[in-house]
Amino acid sequence: MLAFKALVLALGIVEVSSSPAQAPLQAATIKPRKLHGRFLQLTDMHPDPHYTPGSSQTSACHRKKPKHDTRAGYYGTPFSECDAPLRLINFTLDFIDKKWAAGLDFVIWTGDNARHDDDPKLPRTTDEIYQLNREVASKMIDVFLSKGIPVVPSLGNNDVWPHNIMTPGPNSITNQFSLIWESFIPFPNLQVFHRGAYYSVEVIPGEVAVISLNTMYFYDSNKAVAGCPFKGRDDPGNLQLDWLEVQLRSYRNRGMQVWLSGHVPPTPGNYFPECYVRYVELSLRFQDTILGHLFGHMNADHFSFLEAIDLQFLPENQDRSRFEREELYETLLREYSALPTSSKELDFGDYGVVNVSPPVVPNPYLPSFRVFSYNTTSSGVGTSAKKKKGSKRKHGHRRGDHGNKDSHCAKEEYKNTWKCYLNETWYSDPDSPSRSNTRWTPLGYAQFYIPSLETANKTHRPRFKLEYLTYVPELLHPPSTNADSIRGFQYPIPLEHLPRSLRNSNVTWSKYAPYRMADLTIPSWVGLAQKLGDSKDTKLRKRFRKYMYMGGEEG
Ligand SMILES: *[C@@H]1O[C@H](CO)[C@@H](O)[C@H](O)[C@H]1NC(C)=O
Ligand SMILES: *[C@@H]1O[C@H](CO)[C@@H](O)[C@H](O)[C@H]1NC(C)=O
Ligand SMILES: *[C@@H]1O[C@H](CO)[C@@H](O)[C@H](O)[C@H]1NC(C)=O
Ligand SMILES: *[C@@H]1O[C@H](CO)[C@@H](O)[C@H](O)[C@H]1NC(C)=O
Ligand SMILES: *[C@@H]1O[C@H](CO)[C@@H](O)[C@H](O)[C@H]1NC(C)=O
Repeated sequence: MLAFKALVLALGIVEVSSSPAQAPLQAATIKPRKLHGRFLQLTDMHPDPHYTPGSSQTSACHRKKPKHDTRAGYYGTPFSECDAPLRLINFTLDFIDKKWAAGLDFVIWTGDNARHDDDPKLPRTTDEIYQLNREVASKMIDVFLSKGIPVVPSLGNNDVWPHNIMTPGPNSITNQFSLIWESFIPFPNLQVFHRGAYYSVEVIPGEVAVISLNTMYFYDSNKAVAGCPFKGRDDPGNLQLDWLEVQLRSYRNRGMQVWLSGHVPPTPGNYFPECYVRYVELSLRFQDTILGHLFGHMNADHFSFLEAIDLQFLPENQDRSRFEREELYETLLREYSALPTSSKELDFGDYGVVNVSPPVVPNPYLPSFRVFSYNTTSSGVGTSAKKKKGSKRKHGHRRGDHGNKDSHCAKEEYKNTWKCYLNETWYSDPDSPSRSNTRWTPLGYAQFYIPSLETANKTHRPRFKLEYLTYVPELLHPPSTNADSIRGFQYPIPLEHLPRSLRNSNVTWSKYAPYRMADLTIPSWVGLAQKLGDSKDTKLRKRFRKYMYMGGEEG
């Protein structure tokens, strides 16, 4: 078995390196460019080659003309269980190409580029999955990579057959994707990619990297892996987390900052418990190096926290995985409400923030994409991390110290679990970009969607509009007081993409900007969560829920 795997690996590499055609587009050779301070996240495109306008939703928009039901639309069917016509994927990427690409620095692309398997009459095949991925990848190369904009894709649970299942690599999946994504993966990382479909890209060379994780090895629906058991060091989830630790340490030593990205978000409900514990621990241990965590898969727009408390042994009634069966909105509000409200109890070193972007596919809501802006100031603050190693400290305890590790770890039941062994010191620093606004700090995002997809047809193309943005409206314009800061000002969102009501620099309030976040640091997210956790703020909760379900019935 081992020899066979080694042979496959060797063959794969020969194939890859004997294909020079794509070499000029290699992500690793991309030259430093002028930064615009913006990047794009795209997720869950789910193209469906069998999509047929006019067909019935009960056939997954593949067949039959319904008498009463709404028929499948020309550009897609909003709030449906149908996947996306290729026309919608093309329209979206062509729109971004024309209107956005020139102002983007890199693209984080978090997976699921094949249809769902929900038509029993038309089951998916591996060939179809790879073909769809090839088509979307080729479009991503045309739109971004060919212009020198790095693209960092991740594997989704529907990019494999059967969905959710992926055995330890190297295997046919890692082989196929190392070819399909050859242009996106820096050549030196291909060998590791062959093993596990994870890799990293220095999207701003020497400064910022994106680490693309293969969440299939953490996802508890994948029955082909063991889920990072402490005693199973060869489990692919453990190997990936070992690799991640090395990546984080080496980027940290180089004074760089990283985004972590992938398809299935790290939550107690999605990940195997042991994989989740290791993920949280690495996130907090390297908090001074990680800019944030960007994921897809869930369809519903939301954010959640990775918390120090997840590394403790909690009484059963506080175990977060207990709530996985309730509605996501309820789970999130519970999480937000449990945050300490007094600054004495609140240690920002105990948190990481996971952002989940809604999908391109209008299943089950509306097509959307997200544009982030980040701080490109050159005032040297960011690079000081190189010299400054961050304040080292021990594990924090909070929320009443339910830890009680010693007594648990003495017991047979818990003895061999990761919680009992993760005792490295943490690197956290209140001045790091994830904690305060400085070079590379994410400043906000604007989310665009197609609110009236159903009216689009052959002659009337769909239209992307601003759904909402996280900024304080004043920050969308140059500061009016300081001439120096005006000179270097970069619009976080180019004015042409803002609704008229936001284009005036005197706007102080907008229905598009209910969150009013100064930036996207951990303290800002905790602040928003605390407001949402306050049950008296029903207005804000309503907006949050509306965005989760994009104004659909569930909202
Ligand atoms: C989508 O665009 C690609 C080229 O970028 C083209 O080859 C393909 O035919 C288009 N498909 C549809 C359905 O428009
Ligand atoms: C950390 O755990 C290891 C066992 O994994 C143990 O040998 C070591 O003494 C521990 N270090 C501290 C500082 O507790
Ligand atoms: C970027 O960070 C610097 C601190 O290094 C800060 O002075 C500046 O206001 C930040 N820029 C923006 C647009 O927030
Ligand atoms: C397309 O939609 C527009 C407005 O929604 C409508 O006026 C027009 O008749 C439609 N065209 C076709 C070919 O259905
Ligand atoms: C904002 O500016 C616009 C045009 O410059 C002006 O018409 C409007 O009255 C101003 N609004 C406020 C509230 O000052």
